[in-house]
Amino acid sequence: MKFVEIVNLDIHGDHRGSLISLEENSMVVPFDIKRVYYIFDTKDDVIRGKHAHKELEQLVIAINGKCNFYVDNGFEKQTIKIDGPSKAIHIKGLVWREMMDFSEDCVLMVLASEHYNTADYIYDYHEFLDEVGKGIK
Ligand code: TYD
Repeated sequence: MKFVEIVNLDIHGDHRGSLISLEENSMVVPFDIKRVYYIFDTKDDVIRGKHAHKELEQLVIAINGKCNFYVDNGFEKQTIKIDGPSKAIHIKGLVWREMMDFSEDCVLMVLASEHYNTADYIYDYHEFLDEVGKGIK
């Protein structure tokens, strides 16, 4: 079952360098972009995230450096290496996520479909599994 999508972004390049463009409501970003945030200066022994979202849809890109992105839909688990500005992860639906193994120079940018809302977060893994269970009943 494919519960996160790895998207290869088009690079517009010429002799001057490279450019990647992201537009809301497109094939690559299939939602309104209501928020953009980026994570940087994260220490390499730190695990971030450790939560799921009820409704949020996100596109995650390491615009610099690299890290590992662990995802779990309650049935399957996967660790995805995010290691370049042209590789994005699209996450939608109930997915537990953790980010780790950050390189010193890692800048992890996230495009999000909703404003910041703590009510959309599930911080407890057992509660997450309960929610996943409700979805399949
Ligand atoms: P946190 O959710 O702990 O980050 P991560 O999921 O990467 O572990 O967020 C860190 C802090 O930033 C916390 O105080 C909440 C705040 N924050 C915002 O104010 N707006 C946002 O959009 C996000 C994602 C976090």
